[in-house]
Amino acid sequence: MSTLFRTKSVEQSIRDTEEPEHALKKSLSALDLTVFGVGVIIGTGIFVLTGKVAKETAGPATALAFVVAGIVCALAALCYAEFASTVPVAGSAYTFSYASLGELVAWIIGWDLVLEFALGTAVVAVGWSGYVRSLLDNIGWSMPEVLSGPDVADGFGFDILAFVLVLVLTVILVLGMKLSARVTTVVVAVKLAVVGIVIVAGLFFVKSANYTPFVPDAEPQPSGSGWDAPLVQLVFGYAPTNFGLLGVFTAASIVFFAFIGFDVVATAAEETKVPQRDMPRGILASLLICTVLYVAVSLVVTGMQHYTELSVSAPLADAFKALGHPFYAGVISFGAAVGLTTVCLILLLGQTRVFFAMSRDGLLPRFFSKTHPRFGTPYRPTILLGVIIAVVAGVTSINELATLVNIGTLFAFVVVALGVIVLRRTRPDLPRAFRTPWVPLLPVVSVAASVWLMLNLPAETWLRFGIWMVIGVIIYAVHGRRNSGLAKAAARR
Ligand code: ALA
Repeated sequence: MSTLFRTKSVEQSIRDTEEPEHALKKSLSALDLTVFGVGVIIGTGIFVLTGKVAKETAGPATALAFVVAGIVCALAALCYAEFASTVPVAGSAYTFSYASLGELVAWIIGWDLVLEFALGTAVVAVGWSGYVRSLLDNIGWSMPEVLSGPDVADGFGFDILAFVLVLVLTVILVLGMKLSARVTTVVVAVKLAVVGIVIVAGLFFVKSANYTPFVPDAEPQPSGSGWDAPLVQLVFGYAPTNFGLLGVFTAASIVFFAFIGFDVVATAAEETKVPQRDMPRGILASLLICTVLYVAVSLVVTGMQHYTELSVSAPLADAFKALGHPFYAGVISFGAAVGLTTVCLILLLGQTRVFFAMSRDGLLPRFFSKTHPRFGTPYRPTILLGVIIAVVAGVTSINELATLVNIGTLFAFVVVALGVIVLRRTRPDLPRAFRTPWVPLLPVVSVAASVWLMLNLPAETWLRFGIWMVIGVIIYAVHGRRNSGLAKAAARR
């Protein structure tokens, strides 16, 4: 039993990163991290999900859903910031849990993060492909349905654009962080400009009549009370509804996807020059910027068009189109397509870093933790996962993936918040550049808030998540438990 709870000491974690063969380059500042954060956070969530959620679940109150999701993330971010500044090692919540909650929990969380980042990458690639297809349409080229993915095609569809995007980004990552950080900065600027255009230009077209009712009355879900209803409504025996006050929370559990990414910033701790200072700054700054922009964008868009009329595939651009401004629509589509590229890139990066850290610890085969002799990047997991994700992005539908990503991320938040409490007790002596305020109250509230959003996700999402986790525990029992670096060290003693 005790082996399941063995922890890897923080000092050991830091030492491991200093072995030259396994070391990543330290080159990022707080500003780099913020750019990095904004680069990954603003994406499919605001560009695609806003319209769908406003139309089907919350109406103009989608802005409130963003506030709710933003609060949940801010609570989690305060916990992440303490962990990331205390344990500045690649791997994010995975590494933090290894240092505090033991090997089994670390494995579970690492496995969970693989799900979050890999599927998150796929979701964003599919969203990107939709915008690119719409741009191609504008210039009179249309993609055959069979190459447009399962969401578009009748019968079999392979999303060739999403597939190619993931492969190209994989190559960029193998060639090294430097290149991708430079590209990221330019693309983030484009993305912010587009969001700015939506807010400023859109403001002139807002009609106050579109805000009534702000919180539309609850109405029965068209699909009835099956597995796709929020778990909380099934558990408490409500007839599942959309809109109304409960709809705001259902909406929050979906638009939560729009905030995913600030936790990815934490995965770059090992590549940060002064992690103790820069990490919390980078995380909190990027989260704050995004929350403000999301609330503004969703208010403007639901003010421009009545929520019942919003488009579900490209709502920001289509609102301008509907009001007779195709030029703005084109610019926005272009910017969205460019912006989603970085989101995809950074999620893919986070993914390979978690896999790398798990492999370096022996929980996954060590073959994957050898860095490239020339580029200094973990090229083996990057290539393996890049190819798998590209195929998944090619063949899977966007909706089911997004909710699965959300439940996985919220689960990680729960573990991190609990980890802050545990680590304060087990290692009060560790230097903490950033301390979460009001421990244990704040982490406990963070856990409750994350669990509440999880309960608002569909029952079938819970089922899929459960299956994924069971597979993970089996792999740990068969491989990780015996091969972990800690197990080997214990055997030598
Ligand atoms: N937050 C990122 C997005 O909205 C993942 O696409």
